[in-house]
Amino acid sequence: MKVDGIPTRAIWRDGERVGFIDQTRLPHRVAVVRAGSVERMARAIVDMQVRGAPLIGAAAAYGVALAMQRDASDTGLQAALTLLGATRPTAVNLQWALRRQRTRLLPLLPDERAAVAWTVASQIADEDVATNAAIGQHGLELIRLLETRGTRINLLTHCNAGWLATVDGGTALAPVYAAHDAGLDVHVWVDETRPRNQGAALTAWELGQHGVPHTVIADNAGGHLMQHGEVDAVIVGADRIAANGDVANKIGTYLKALAAGDNEVPFWVAAPVSTFDPSIADGVAGIPIENRDADELRWFAGVDNSGRRRRVRVTPAGSAAHNPAFDVTPARLVSRIITEQGVVEANRNGIAQAILSKAEAARRNA
Ligand code: MRU
Repeated sequence: MKVDGIPTRAIWRDGERVGFIDQTRLPHRVAVVRAGSVERMARAIVDMQVRGAPLIGAAAAYGVALAMQRDASDTGLQAALTLLGATRPTAVNLQWALRRQRTRLLPLLPDERAAVAWTVASQIADEDVATNAAIGQHGLELIRLLETRGTRINLLTHCNAGWLATVDGGTALAPVYAAHDAGLDVHVWVDETRPRNQGAALTAWELGQHGVPHTVIADNAGGHLMQHGEVDAVIVGADRIAANGDVANKIGTYLKALAAGDNEVPFWVAAPVSTFDPSIADGVAGIPIENRDADELRWFAGVDNSGRRRRVRVTPAGSAAHNPAFDVTPARLVSRIITEQGVVEANRNGIAQAILSKAEAARRNA
């Protein structure tokens, strides 16, 4: 995607370092970090300088490459996998990318590992871009079904599942960009997404950069808008999808799905097959949910009129706060899942079909 007209990825190799856009500084500043160690990469994931399930996976893969430059012994490899694996628990793409690195690197001699680790990380990054382009095209076909000549298509999204949450292209926003680029009149309701404000800060910024009409709304406004016919479909990303089609995504997604179900608004989830976790039979019971520091809730970050960064407290000093970062939307509330392999039902058959079709595609390309 373009930043001020210049094609930019959310993460990239920069010599012996890894460059990425620091998402904690957006939308007020486009700041680039150049990480030179696995520890720095792990910290970037924990602090959400890079975030979003596919991007976390790519960041972890690049983190392994950084680690292999310094210590490519079995101990060094295992230490890197353990460090990166412990950064964030919900997005399964992280474990998926680390498993890919481990499988390729473990059989090699230590001297060979750094070069191969960089190659694997680049492959994961490039595949992510291609995957999201395919998600965009499959999702575009769904959006076209909403088109009634001359009327604007209103989509609602939660959190940020745009290009900033991936290497490039986005998952939930890929069909939106495809529709906009195809000349469809799309407008996006952007949930602010408390407490980290990924919607207000990141989704609004990237839609604006691409010229997609959008309006930021308070997290609690979605139900009201759906009740009054102002939302044609909800489209969100995912951090993990269980074998039964249950979907973990940013906290608050479940409430949007309930409101969509009550108002017969289609609720679509867009995700790569690497977000599927067939080892978890029941998502509501089995997907691990990250609990983050409650200060994210107590304090609000932004800039003042002079552009200076400020943190202000919004709760009474003594109040307890609780900050689960994700929730799980039961499959019965999900209308369709848009993957790079096509659009599938949110049930055991649909999930199995997408996984099988991905495996067949991988075999054909091998
Ligand atoms: O806590 P975050 O910002 O990493 O959460 C991100 C989300 O919940 C996204 O919707 C999800 O990762 C899909 S990203 C394409």
